[in-house]
Amino acid sequence: MRIDIVSLFPEFVAQCAAFGVVGRAAERGLLSLHGWNPRDYAEGNYRRVDDRPFGGGPGMVMLVDPLRASLDAARAADPRPVCVVYLTPQGVPLTQAKVRELAARERMVLLCGRYEGVDERLLATQVDEEISIGDYVLSGGELAAAVVVDAVARLQAGVLNDADSAEQDSFEPVDPAGDPGQLLLDCPHYTRPVSHELGDVPPVLMSGNHAEIARWRRQQALGRTWQRRPDLLDEAGLSKPDRALLSSYRASLGTVGDDSDG
Ligand code: ADE
Repeated sequence: MRIDIVSLFPEFVAQCAAFGVVGRAAERGLLSLHGWNPRDYAEGNYRRVDDRPFGGGPGMVMLVDPLRASLDAARAADPRPVCVVYLTPQGVPLTQAKVRELAARERMVLLCGRYEGVDERLLATQVDEEISIGDYVLSGGELAAAVVVDAVARLQAGVLNDADSAEQDSFEPVDPAGDPGQLLLDCPHYTRPVSHELGDVPPVLMSGNHAEIARWRRQQALGRTWQRRPDLLDEAGLSKPDRALLSSYRASLGTVGDDSDG
């Protein structure tokens, strides 16, 4: 996959993508990142990329022309069709389903705004979609772009060593049949030592009984989702065995009785 980043700080996003899983994806040629700086396309001695907003008010607005020239250059650098994504708190929220959709594309351009905004005419005519990484305001789109790059890179085939590890993440559908599946948080994980002053590893994980281990993990995932993100849990949509697992999880906490119908 090819990702082009239009930003006043393209090296920032590139640096974020230089380590770990994303770095490995780049090394293996599974992901290529290309930065385009609007300042390189700005005119005049000062290479202006922004100006004061019409109508007054604080801050500066990014100019149309340097951004448009950067986008044109990015588009022309590769013949494959490309989608321009603008990172903004006004965009659609980034979810794992959206990440999967983006990860399936051959290429995309991420447009990062700075300052107080970008001239609306550029956004209205040059941008295909707007994405937000959460209901808070960053000082620019670069961190959001780095989030998108990371999330998308780790889903590229061949990036993760264990093919299973992406599928078992929080937010990945856990219904083996795939689509759409319940979205659950991840179960807890443990490694050596078995006994530690901070606690012991749950014995089931050392039992060697793979069915029991899978059952325990599923129950933990259900229980955690119920406790921490009940908004993700469509209890009515759970299978009967899942409802029974969740019910016994709740019972083990002593909060409610066993309301399993199975
Ligand atoms: N730019 C500034 N804040 C942002 C956010 N929350 N998501 C995406 N882009 C942003």
